[in-house]
Amino acid sequence: MKVTVHRKAHFNAAHRLYRKDWNFEKNQAVFGLCNNPNFHGHNYELIASVTGEIDPETGYVIDVKILKDIIKSEVEDAFDHKNLNVEVPEFEDLNPTAENIAVVIYDKIKKKLDTKFYLEITLYETPRNFVTYSGQ
Ligand code: NI
Repeated sequence: MKVTVHRKAHFNAAHRLYRKDWNFEKNQAVFGLCNNPNFHGHNYELIASVTGEIDPETGYVIDVKILKDIIKSEVEDAFDHKNLNVEVPEFEDLNPTAENIAVVIYDKIKKKLDTKFYLEITLYETPRNFVTYSGQ
Protein backbone atom coordinates (compact mmCIF):
# COMPACT_ATOMS: atom_id res chain seq x y z
CA MET A 1 0.00 0.00 0.00
CA LYS A 2 1.72 3.13 -1.21
CA VAL A 3 0.82 6.63 -0.10
CA THR A 4 2.13 9.98 -1.32
CA VAL A 5 3.07 12.75 1.11
CA HIS A 6 3.16 16.26 -0.36
CA ARG A 7 4.98 19.25 1.09
CA LYS A 8 4.53 22.77 -0.31
CA ALA A 9 7.20 25.44 -0.25
CA HIS A 10 7.82 28.83 -1.77
CA PHE A 11 10.70 30.95 -2.99
CA ASN A 12 11.17 34.21 -4.85
CA ALA A 13 13.93 34.35 -7.41
CA ALA A 14 15.10 36.34 -10.41
CA HIS A 15 16.27 34.93 -13.70
CA ARG A 16 16.96 35.63 -17.32
CA LEU A 17 16.39 33.07 -20.07
CA TYR A 18 19.12 33.21 -22.70
CA ARG A 19 22.06 31.34 -24.14
CA LYS A 20 25.52 32.83 -23.86
CA ASP A 21 26.42 31.31 -27.23
CA TRP A 22 23.54 33.04 -29.08
CA ASN A 23 23.50 36.73 -30.00
CA PHE A 24 20.95 39.12 -28.50
CA GLU A 25 18.64 38.98 -31.54
CA LYS A 26 18.40 35.20 -31.50
CA ASN A 27 17.84 35.15 -27.73
CA GLN A 28 15.18 37.83 -28.13
CA ALA A 29 13.45 35.83 -30.88
CA VAL A 30 13.35 32.64 -28.80
CA PHE A 31 12.94 33.95 -25.24
CA GLY A 32 11.26 37.36 -25.77
CA LEU A 33 10.57 39.25 -22.54
CA CYS A 34 12.31 36.52 -20.55
CA ASN A 35 15.60 37.62 -22.20
CA ASN A 36 15.48 41.00 -20.39
CA PRO A 37 19.19 41.68 -19.60
CA ASN A 38 18.08 43.27 -16.31
CA PHE A 39 16.41 40.02 -15.19
CA HIS A 40 12.86 39.56 -13.86
CA GLY A 41 11.39 37.70 -10.92
CA HIS A 42 8.88 34.98 -10.12
CA ASN A 43 7.12 33.72 -7.01
CA TYR A 44 7.86 30.03 -7.37
CA GLU A 45 5.62 27.51 -5.65
CA LEU A 46 7.09 24.07 -5.07
CA ILE A 47 5.37 20.80 -4.22
CA ALA A 48 7.65 17.92 -3.29
CA SER A 49 5.75 14.61 -3.39
CA VAL A 50 7.24 11.54 -1.72
CA THR A 51 5.68 8.13 -2.32
CA GLY A 52 6.37 5.04 -0.24
CA GLU A 53 5.00 2.38 2.06
CA ILE A 54 3.45 3.36 5.38
CA ASP A 55 5.76 2.40 8.23
CA PRO A 56 3.58 0.11 10.42
CA GLU A 57 5.24 1.39 13.61
CA THR A 58 4.90 5.15 13.06
CA GLY A 59 2.07 5.28 10.54
CA TYR A 60 4.23 7.63 8.45
CA VAL A 61 5.54 7.26 4.91
CA ILE A 62 8.08 9.94 5.80
CA ASP A 63 8.18 12.30 8.77
CA VAL A 64 7.15 15.59 7.12
CA LYS A 65 9.67 17.38 9.35
CA ILE A 66 12.47 15.55 7.53
CA LEU A 67 11.07 16.59 4.14
CA LYS A 68 10.56 20.16 5.36
CA ASP A 69 14.18 20.40 6.53
CA ILE A 70 15.53 18.99 3.25
CA ILE A 71 13.49 21.52 1.24
CA LYS A 72 14.71 24.34 3.47
CA SER A 73 18.39 23.52 3.15
CA GLU A 74 18.41 22.39 -0.49
CA VAL A 75 15.90 24.79 -2.08
CA GLU A 76 14.84 27.72 0.10
CA ASP A 77 18.28 28.55 1.52
CA ALA A 78 19.87 28.04 -1.92
CA PHE A 79 17.35 29.84 -4.17
CA ASP A 80 15.17 32.24 -2.14
CA HIS A 81 15.78 35.93 -2.93
CA LYS A 82 18.59 34.94 -5.29
CA ASN A 83 19.39 35.72 -8.88
CA LEU A 84 19.46 32.19 -10.27
CA ASN A 85 21.75 33.00 -13.21
CA VAL A 86 24.29 34.90 -11.13
CA GLU A 87 24.17 33.42 -7.63
CA VAL A 88 23.25 29.76 -8.02
CA PRO A 89 26.13 27.62 -9.37
CA GLU A 90 23.81 25.02 -10.96
CA PHE A 91 22.59 27.66 -13.43
CA GLU A 92 25.96 29.10 -14.39
CA ASP A 93 25.74 27.22 -17.70
CA LEU A 94 22.14 25.98 -17.53
CA ASN A 95 19.18 28.09 -18.63
CA PRO A 96 16.99 28.59 -15.52
CA THR A 97 13.69 27.65 -17.14
CA ALA A 98 11.00 26.13 -14.94
CA GLU A 99 11.89 22.77 -16.52
CA ASN A 100 15.56 23.00 -15.59
CA ILE A 101 14.83 24.40 -12.11
CA ALA A 102 12.52 21.42 -11.45
CA VAL A 103 15.26 18.97 -12.52
CA VAL A 104 17.86 20.69 -10.32
CA ILE A 105 15.47 20.66 -7.34
CA TYR A 106 14.64 16.99 -7.94
CA ASP A 107 18.33 16.02 -8.02
CA LYS A 108 19.11 17.97 -4.84
CA ILE A 109 16.20 16.55 -2.83
CA LYS A 110 16.59 13.00 -4.20
CA LYS A 111 20.19 12.86 -2.96
CA LYS A 112 19.02 13.57 0.60
CA LEU A 113 16.14 11.07 0.63
CA ASP A 114 16.22 7.37 1.43
CA THR A 115 16.47 5.54 -1.91
CA LYS A 116 13.26 3.59 -1.11
CA PHE A 117 11.17 6.67 -1.90
CA TYR A 118 9.72 7.78 -5.25
CA LEU A 119 9.97 11.57 -5.64
CA GLU A 120 8.01 13.92 -7.86
CA ILE A 121 8.60 17.66 -8.12
CA THR A 122 5.88 20.10 -9.17
CA LEU A 123 7.09 23.64 -9.74
CA TYR A 124 4.79 26.60 -10.44
CA GLU A 125 6.48 29.55 -12.12
CA THR A 126 3.16 31.40 -12.29
CA PRO A 127 -0.26 30.33 -10.98
CA ARG A 128 -1.05 29.00 -14.47
CA ASN A 129 2.32 27.69 -15.66
CA PHE A 130 3.83 24.70 -13.91
CA VAL A 131 6.04 21.71 -14.66
CA THR A 132 6.50 18.29 -13.10
CA TYR A 133 9.55 16.02 -12.99
CA SER A 134 10.05 12.62 -11.42
CA GLY A 135 13.44 11.50 -12.68
CA GLN A 136 12.35 10.06 -16.03
NI1 NI B 1 10.65 34.20 -16.17
